[in-house]
Amino acid sequence: MHAPSELLKYIEKAIESTKYPQYPRNLYEPISYIMNLGGKRLRPIMLLMSAELFGCDPEKAVPAAMAIETFHNFTLIHDDIMDNAPLRRGRQTVHEKWNSNTAILSGDVMMVEANKHITNVHISVLKPALDTFNATAQGVCEGQQLDMDFEARDDVSIPEYINMIRLKTAVLVGGAMKLGAIVANATEQEAELIYRFGEDLGIAFQLQDDILDVYGDPKKFGKQVGGDIISDKKTFLRLKLQELAGNTDLTALDLNVNLSPEEKIRSVTVLYNQYMVREQAETLMKSYLDSAFAALGQINVPAARKHELTILANELMNRES
Ligand code: IPE
Ligand code: IPE
Ligand code: MG
Ligand code: MG
Ligand code: MG
Repeated sequence: MHAPSELLKYIEKAIESTKYPQYPRNLYEPISYIMNLGGKRLRPIMLLMSAELFGCDPEKAVPAAMAIETFHNFTLIHDDIMDNAPLRRGRQTVHEKWNSNTAILSGDVMMVEANKHITNVHISVLKPALDTFNATAQGVCEGQQLDMDFEARDDVSIPEYINMIRLKTAVLVGGAMKLGAIVANATEQEAELIYRFGEDLGIAFQLQDDILDVYGDPKKFGKQVGGDIISDKKTFLRLKLQELAGNTDLTALDLNVNLSPEEKIRSVTVLYNQYMVREQAETLMKSYLDSAFAALGQINVPAARKHELTILANELMNRES
């Protein structure tokens, strides 16, 4: 079994050797820009780990891993337009560096590039791989729409929120794991279990992302801290606060429409601290991590093969970016 740092080399090599056309420059340059900004490469690494878990040479899973990472980066470009985000991986977002139309179109063509990668899986698994890839991509769009819809609503429930993050984030982690299993010719039951591992881990991952959006270190986080508060995102922190504070403290905030973004971030963070919603988010995150491990535990392969995946999943819960 390879360590994540070794699997990362497979991905970086494949990214380096993927060439895009030169013309039109404004269509393709943003792709190289975003793909080379780094990032954790979590999903493709986990896809390769899933393939190895089921006894497959990771090299065979690289096309599927590239499809997933290219798709992920496409969603980031469009997500940053939707979220009005200035920073990504410590650098300017694509729509800020170029403009929104360029960011839309470069994102679109990345979806095509992602499709080209997935068609490079072995022909014997092409149909299930494509089906899984398409179902995943559709789920992400559904989640992103819900995320947008929720900005304008004040009655979002916590189960609705969990379903939204399951779609926008967790199905992609689950889908990546499942693709690894498909490429490795795992059984349907095994593919389903590793999907569940990925999906539950993905929910925990997004809860952590929401926590970092408020409490992250701006020097390490790579994104604008407080962005979710500015856009009225219905994160777990926000929903839990609404539940605990009732409308008293929050109404005071809403009435104070003249707050600058900085003041809004500060006031909402004070309330988060007062009602200790971060601790509650962490508790929920741990319970999703536990259920991810329960699914992994049911997979019938030698325990040693699960070791690296277990370490990685635990480390993700303590990340700073
Ligand atoms: C960002 O994903 C989008 C979320 C689902 C929170 P990552 O945190 O994996 O971003 P990179 O790829 O490492 O930059
Ligand atoms: C992540 O949502 C989901 C997708 C990017 C599809 P966020 O909006 O929280 O992601 P970040 O925080 O911008 O990376
Ligand atoms: Mg965003
Ligand atoms: Mg978003
Ligand atoms: Mg976020």
